[in-house]
Amino acid sequence: MASRPAARALRQSVRQLAPAVQRRTFISAVNTTARAAVASAPKAAVFQQQVRGVKTIDFAGTKEDVYERADWPKEKLLEYFKNDTLALIGYGSQGHGQGLNLRDNGLNVIVGVRKNGTSWKEAEQDGWVPGKNLFDIDEAIGKSTIVMNLLSDAAQSETWPQIKPQLTKGKTLYFSHGFSPVFKELTKVDVPTDIDVILVAPKGSGRTVRSLFREGRGINSSIAVFQDVTGKAKEKAIALGVAVGSGYLYETTFQKEVYSDLYGERGCLMGGIHGMFLAQYEVLRERGHSPSEAFNETVEEATQSLYPLIGGNGMDYMYAACSTTARRGAIDWSKRFKETLKPVFNDLYDSVENGSETKRSLEYNSQPDYREKYNQELKEIDDLEIWRAGKAVRSLRPENAK
Ligand SMILES: NC(=O)c1ccc[n+]([C@@H]2O[C@H](COP(=O)([O-])OP(=O)(O)OC[C@H]3O[C@@H](n4cnc5c(N)ncnc54)[C@H](OP(=O)(O)O)[C@@H]3O)[C@@H](O)[C@H]2O)c1
Repeated sequence: MASRPAARALRQSVRQLAPAVQRRTFISAVNTTARAAVASAPKAAVFQQQVRGVKTIDFAGTKEDVYERADWPKEKLLEYFKNDTLALIGYGSQGHGQGLNLRDNGLNVIVGVRKNGTSWKEAEQDGWVPGKNLFDIDEAIGKSTIVMNLLSDAAQSETWPQIKPQLTKGKTLYFSHGFSPVFKELTKVDVPTDIDVILVAPKGSGRTVRSLFREGRGINSSIAVFQDVTGKAKEKAIALGVAVGSGYLYETTFQKEVYSDLYGERGCLMGGIHGMFLAQYEVLRERGHSPSEAFNETVEEATQSLYPLIGGNGMDYMYAACSTTARRGAIDWSKRFKETLKPVFNDLYDSVENGSETKRSLEYNSQPDYREKYNQELKEIDDLEIWRAGKAVRSLRPENAK
């Protein structure tokens, strides 16, 4: 895509930006160097986001409240949860990330999973001790004041008849997805009416929840209240959001969380982007380009050069850092892609809103052999030429050279 000098400039930009992107306080670094480099005026709202203690932030003209970790130092968290036992039910992707962060933050957290299942073994490997802070699900719920339901969404539905009677008055029920209570006609998860029901939904995988926390950074999460019987539900959600390792939290509803989450992961975050990669790669291959060229022009340059620029400083910065030839074509074609894809995104939103996506997910993920079936699908993806070519390309990165 970009000319050689432009590509070199891009690589330099990435190098310059990399440390800045690694830190939570990236805006100041960006404003002094990279922003100046593209002669783009700093945006007032962006500055405002970095001021500690300011809770109402102007997001491009819409004011929203945000909650920051800085307002919940460790001592305050420990004091707030001093009488609580947090039972983490499920130890998959989120259970692992949130659980280890809670433990490192010094909170009284225990894990509840099926005895001798995969998660039980993984929890033991992570230092959870049977009988001390690792129990089967029922025992963990019995010992807890806050029940953090981090089973897979299908398992939340399956186990609900067993879990519901144990959610007695005084306990708090926590989710990381609005899925179960919002789609209760399908999931059958009808929460008891006399307990607080809250949500903290990290905007990333549980592995990232953990790795960002270990780097001293934090994942962004949303919080929501489904039911507030104590008058403290929102405060509890914010405190738990910080305790599980969030950097900043924004407020939503259970319904908006689940709609946007199902929509996003099927769209730009995962499904849509994979579809775009495949379509572009296949056309290049069908028109005589080598796998090396097709992969570099489709995935490698995107993930290694251009997407980090968008992540660090925005789309305008990425355009500005590219050649004028690339910029002209990309701006023109973005309109055509948007027009073509918007109906697909509307279909997708409808499919989320009318419960079709939930139904499909529950039916598929409740099958006893769902893991084997996924493994087969992932193997088929791994075997696609594009991703096999990707392995070869990655092996040639200097940092991967043996
Ligand atoms: N993963 C993400 O990126 C992400 C991001 C934000 C929010 N969330 C939400 O966080 C929650 C947890 O998701 P996750 O991805 O962490 O789940 P996951 O990795 O799929 O974890 C599954 C857990 O559920 C347990 N489980 C499955 N079937 C069970 C059954 N029938 N009975 C008892 N336990 C069962 C598993 O235990 P065994 O090992 O014993 O099978 C494991 O501990 C979900 O609500 C999800 O939507 C996930």
